[in-house]
Amino acid sequence: MARLRVGVLISGRGSNLQALIEAAADPAYPAEIVLVISNRREAQGLQHATQAGIPHEVIGERDRGVFAAVADAALRRHRVELVALAGFMRLLDTGLVEAWCDRMVNIHPSLLPAFPGLHPQRQALAAGVRFSGCTVHFVRAEMDTGPIIAQAVVPVHDEDDEDRLAARILASEHRLYPLAVRLYAEGRLRVEGNRVAVTGGVIPDIAPLNPSG
Ligand code: GRF
Repeated sequence: MARLRVGVLISGRGSNLQALIEAAADPAYPAEIVLVISNRREAQGLQHATQAGIPHEVIGERDRGVFAAVADAALRRHRVELVALAGFMRLLDTGLVEAWCDRMVNIHPSLLPAFPGLHPQRQALAAGVRFSGCTVHFVRAEMDTGPIIAQAVVPVHDEDDEDRLAARILASEHRLYPLAVRLYAEGRLRVEGNRVAVTGGVIPDIAPLNPSG
């Protein structure tokens, strides 16, 4: 069966890109990464694309509209069906977001709608929450909003600093993003207003407490 063609947009390290590449290395995985776009030439993540033999482009255009036009053309040229933002640090042109409505997803390292924007782990520590996590959602024009596809919960430890919490959340991101893309590729997501219905989704039976004793 033809696999879903995914284009990934990055700006930096690219560990989520690598998690998607590793998931797609399994021929049974229903999606493949066919294009990586970076807005920064020095993005480390480009090396993951190179190593995996995935076509990649650097689009350094500073003008938002021009960036959108060039990116959109590249995505269409590579017959991309789903765009996955993975540590992509630029605000996207509204027209581009609308053109890819319900076909563009993002991962954010907090339990949205809590802590959108920059430094979500720092925000979580400052707020004193006992749990944080990560969210994969469909992209809408306003930053870090849009129907939520999947979330992972991560406990906050008393001795956490921003880096320790970020590392714990990142490990869960690497599991959550391939799962969410798989659900999309399997045609199991239906957007209903601001909610996403997941056909055949397995809801875990958890009631965690933190601290739990
Ligand atoms: C991740 O924490 C992601 O959730 C956020 O930016 C970070 C990117 O990390 N949007 P990487 O480039 O995927 O390693």
